[in-house]
Amino acid sequence: MRAYKSKMVTPIRLPDREEREANLERAGYNVFNLDSEGVFVDLLTDSGTGTMSESQWAAMLSGDEAYAGSRSFDRLEEAVSDVMGFERIIPAHQGRGAENVLYGALVEDGDYVPNNTHFDTTRAHIANNGAKPVDCPCEGALDDDRPFAGDLDVEAVRRLADEVGAEKIPAVLLTITNNSLAGQPVSVENVRAAREVADELDAAFVIDACRFAENAYFVREREAEFEGESVSAVAREQLSYADALVMSGKKDGLVNVGGFVAIRDDEKFDDLYADARERGILYEGFTTYGGMAGRDLEAMAVGLREAVAESYVADRVGQVQRLGDLLADRGVPVERPTGGHAVYVNAAEFLPEIPDDEFPGQALVCELYREGAVRGVELGSFAFPDTDRPELVRLSLPRRTYGADHLDHVAETFEKVAERRDAGEISGLEIVAEPEMAELRHFSAELRPVRAQETTTAD
Ligand code: F0G
Repeated sequence: MRAYKSKMVTPIRLPDREEREANLERAGYNVFNLDSEGVFVDLLTDSGTGTMSESQWAAMLSGDEAYAGSRSFDRLEEAVSDVMGFERIIPAHQGRGAENVLYGALVEDGDYVPNNTHFDTTRAHIANNGAKPVDCPCEGALDDDRPFAGDLDVEAVRRLADEVGAEKIPAVLLTITNNSLAGQPVSVENVRAAREVADELDAAFVIDACRFAENAYFVREREAEFEGESVSAVAREQLSYADALVMSGKKDGLVNVGGFVAIRDDEKFDDLYADARERGILYEGFTTYGGMAGRDLEAMAVGLREAVAESYVADRVGQVQRLGDLLADRGVPVERPTGGHAVYVNAAEFLPEIPDDEFPGQALVCELYREGAVRGVELGSFAFPDTDRPELVRLSLPRRTYGADHLDHVAETFEKVAERRDAGEISGLEIVAEPEMAELRHFSAELRPVRAQETTTAD
């Protein structure tokens, strides 16, 4: 049940079929190129797209816009310390800014960096520093209904170290929840195991904490040791093992923009902190604002505290689960149990007639727009070329934004796509233009249907 009500609304409109088809074609069959006005239910991302609370808006009015020594920065520092247990932060304009700041200081040419699964910007930043990102998810993670399918395969990290030498691994990363692997959570047991392996390799242990509150909720619900604990206590416990954090406030900071790096207040990390701080000034802005306005710092300080409130996070994860149930009831192959921020659909199973090299995930994304102006995102072989991944489509729910009727619309849209599939009307896609950096291909590539597409379904 929602523990809030709306006080401000944004009108949305469902364009008719003709308009949707024209939009899709104009966008080069890449939904990143669509105007948001043509989108009815926007599930492209949960990043920076949520609704802020009245307390956040109120706090924004007291933003201190000083270049240096802003009071708003102090308030963010205090919130990070209370909620996440880190005393030293370097603010950044968003998560990837924080990644640039930290990984540029931590990673060198020729290094290897293991992660349970690298998110696209993480992968790109590691690669951009000349290092090789290595995914180490648990084998067959999505094959059965594991409670912590997002876990890191620590043995795979040990094998990597045997192969390339521990000195080539400057950091072990852990992304909670595991966004690229169906948003699945990571257990605290696994966090401790990752800490252990980092110690063995004399590597830093970094947690990508974007969705730390959602992860903490799953831990409390599923890991026996934490039964009956508060989400906020688990949130701190799971982060307490890390040497550093990378945070995008656009997720569990409940804001539209912002992020930071946090580094453990221990003299062992003084050099790393100094390096990262310098990079922060160079790329993001002075140490007490880092690319954010004072008001943005205020909004994030409040948002972090709201993110670990029981009523908020239970509703949040519950809504994602309800969407997963609606789709599963209609025979849509969704990864279950659902993750924290999104429902992931296995597009290869949903559209079995579309061969792997014709991007079944992207074909499904385009069909969802064509049939219901619903925007999802492909996180399969189109977004992650040259990696061996399931053909997933992600439907991310913005925080505190859509209601049950919107979820119904998404489910009905899937029914229409299924009708078109059964009538043999859905074509695979081929790429006609793509950018140089393969890691960022899905943001700007253009595609076209392999076969001419007919439409017999009506609105
Ligand atoms: N790490 C993870 C796990 C993420 O999911 C994201 C962003 C980032 C880092 C980068 O943060 O966007 O603030 O620069 N994920 C968004 C998504 C974009 O749609 O999943 P950012």
